[in-house]
Amino acid sequence: MKILVTGGNGQLGSELKVLSALYKNYDFTFIDVEEVDLTKEDSIRAYFADKQFNFLIHCAAYTAVDKAEEDTALAYAINAGAVKTLAEICVEKKIRMIHISTDYVFDGEANQPINELAKPNPVSVYGKSKLDGENHVLSLLSNAYIIRTAWVYSTFGKNFVKSIRNLASQRETLGVVSDQIGTPTYAYDLASAILQIVAAVHEGRADEPGIYHFTNEGVTSWYDFAYFLVQESKLNCKVQPISTAQYKTAAVRPKFSLLDKSKIKATFAVQIPHWSESLRICIEKLTN
Ligand SMILES: NC(=O)c1ccc[n+]([C@@H]2O[C@H](COP(=O)([O-])OP(=O)(O)OC[C@H]3O[C@@H](n4cnc5c(N)ncnc54)[C@H](OP(=O)(O)O)[C@@H]3O)[C@@H](O)[C@H]2O)c1
Repeated sequence: MKILVTGGNGQLGSELKVLSALYKNYDFTFIDVEEVDLTKEDSIRAYFADKQFNFLIHCAAYTAVDKAEEDTALAYAINAGAVKTLAEICVEKKIRMIHISTDYVFDGEANQPINELAKPNPVSVYGKSKLDGENHVLSLLSNAYIIRTAWVYSTFGKNFVKSIRNLASQRETLGVVSDQIGTPTYAYDLASAILQIVAAVHEGRADEPGIYHFTNEGVTSWYDFAYFLVQESKLNCKVQPISTAQYKTAAVRPKFSLLDKSKIKATFAVQIPHWSESLRICIEKLTN
C-alpha cells in the first residue's frame, strides 16, 4: 500500500513521518517543494507521470494567513490551483485523496459547535483560497476525504506554541487575544486520526468519503491557551488578555471557530485527547 504525503517538511507532514514508523506495512513517500513545486502544474504532472499511489495525503499549503492578503495569486495557486491539478491526477490514477482544510472557511459568526453541514463563508484570502481548493476536490472526486482542522501546533515547524514560549522567555508581560474562541490541534493527534482513516478505508472497516472536522477536545481562547502554555512551561511572564481590536492583523480571523467532531468520532471511532493533555505532551517534547 503506497501513500504519498505532500508538505512533508511542514507540521502535519512531519508528524505523519513520525507516525509512519508504526505502519510498517505501508510504503510512505514524503515530498515537499524540493521534489514538487505546487505552483507549477508541469512539475506536479511530471512527478506523477511514472508513479502510482493508493492514497495521497495532501498537507502542503500556503499557510501564511496575513501574508496571503497581499500575496493573493500565490495563495490561490497553491491552495486552489494545485489542489485542482492533484484532484485531476487522483481521478486519472484512481488515487484516494485526503485533503486538509481549515476552520477559516467559516466566518466565525456561529454560536454553537460548527458541523460539516454548516455553510462556509470565508472572510480572508487564505480562507477563500482553501475553500476553492475544497470545491475542486468535491467536484472532481466523489471518494475523497476533506479534513478541516484549526489552530495547529507541533514540535515541528513554526506555530503559536513555539512563538509564545519564545516571547514569554524574553518578556515580563505578553498580551494575547482573548475574544477568539476555538480549539487547538496537536498535529500529532491529527496525523494519528488521518492514518486511522487510511487504515479503516484500506482494510474495508469504514469508508464514508466527504468532509470531516478534527481538532482536539475542549474549548479555549488564544489567551487561555497561551496562559496554560506559559504556566506549564514554567516561564516567568504575565500573560494578559487583549481584544482582537487591540491586536491588528492584515487578515480577519473568525471570532468563533469551535468545530464539531461528532462525525469523525462516530464514523472512525477516533479517540480525541483534550487540548490541555496534548499541549502538555508537546511542551514536554519541546523541553527535553
Ligand atoms: N497551521 C495551522 O494552524 C492550520 C490551521 C488549519 C488548517 N491548516 C491546514 O493544515 C494543513 C497542514 O498545515 P501545516 O500547519 O502542517 O502547514 P505548514 O507547517 O505551513 O506546512 C506546509 C507545507 O507546505 C509546503 N509548501 C508551501 N508551498 C509549497 C509549494 N509551492 N510547493 C510545495 N510545497 C509547498 C511547505 O514547504 P516550505 O516550508 O518549504 O515552504 C510546508 O512544508 C494545510 O492544509 C493547512 O492549510 C493549518
